[in-house]
Amino acid sequence: MQERLKELQAEALEKVTQAADLKELNDIRVSYLGKKGPITEVLKGMGKLSPEERPKMGALANEVRDMITGAIEEKQIALEKAAVEQKLAAEKIDVTLPGRPVREGNHHPLTRIIEEIEDLFIGMGYTVAEGPEVEKDYYNFEALNLPKGHPARDMQDSFYITEEILLRTHTSPVQARTMEQKQGKGPIKIICPGKVYRRDNDDATHSHQFTQIEGLVIDENIRLSDLKGTLDVFAKKMFGADREIRLRPSFFPFTEPSVEMDISCKMCGGHGCSTCKGTGWIEILGAGMVHPNVLEMAGYDSKKYTGFAFGMGPERIAMLKYGVDDIRHFYTNDIRFLKQFSVTE
Ligand code: PHE
Repeated sequence: MQERLKELQAEALEKVTQAADLKELNDIRVSYLGKKGPITEVLKGMGKLSPEERPKMGALANEVRDMITGAIEEKQIALEKAAVEQKLAAEKIDVTLPGRPVREGNHHPLTRIIEEIEDLFIGMGYTVAEGPEVEKDYYNFEALNLPKGHPARDMQDSFYITEEILLRTHTSPVQARTMEQKQGKGPIKIICPGKVYRRDNDDATHSHQFTQIEGLVIDENIRLSDLKGTLDVFAKKMFGADREIRLRPSFFPFTEPSVEMDISCKMCGGHGCSTCKGTGWIEILGAGMVHPNVLEMAGYDSKKYTGFAFGMGPERIAMLKYGVDDIRHFYTNDIRFLKQFSVTE
């Protein structure tokens, strides 16, 4: 019996030494130390031994079991360590390798201009309002004092979807909608940026789809001088403190009086050059005092409330500011063009 135990010990220790992984080691544990293992089997024969021999054999069996258990534990630690080392070696990173360049995008030049204009007006207490691009004829024209058949509708050739629905030709319907929502009460101070659509043939200065930013201020005692002061602040912040503005009489059905705003030409300092076509001035936007009919149609008392509105094209402003000579550059998305407006460059 003693020999059998020694034999088992030697056999088990040899197997433990050779075990290649944790699973194999566990199998050894189960087969030698388990309830059905050979040691238990040997111990079952203890009954046949003399009372003197029994405790000796019991002690020996425990010794053998402890040795095997100890060897397994040691081997387990060694195997686990080896596994970690192997994993570390496999996942080793060469920090000296040069990194892959990350290609960074940048905002579209029009997005930049629109955000710049938004920020400028937000700084003056305006909020940004938006409206649908597929618009009702009512908001795009009728509520802006342009009833059906009005000749001024020809100024804005439109894409009609049905007789009553079209792609908006300007951002002014957002003012009509905002005024209507206020139900004739309280002040309004908004700017409305967005896409607009007109049936124009695309060329260097025309696009069938472009962007506009509309501004609207309604309150008691709003005067033309408020409009002029606002536009002056805008022009100087956008184009430089040395810029002059001038207002010329104009016509829009939704404003009365209507004006167009020019800024002094930066290229020639106002003396006249090819950029300003010899006039010294560059046209920037249309504006005016909100027509009483427009106020009344939206439910405002035009004796109590007055207001001004202005509308401009970010494309035109971007072209002037960045010296872009063809509006189509904004839409054809040539990466060489767009990359020039990266902030980091
Ligand atoms: N909506 C006008 C246009 O597209 C511009 C404008 C807006 C003029 C507001 C006056 C006041 O031509």
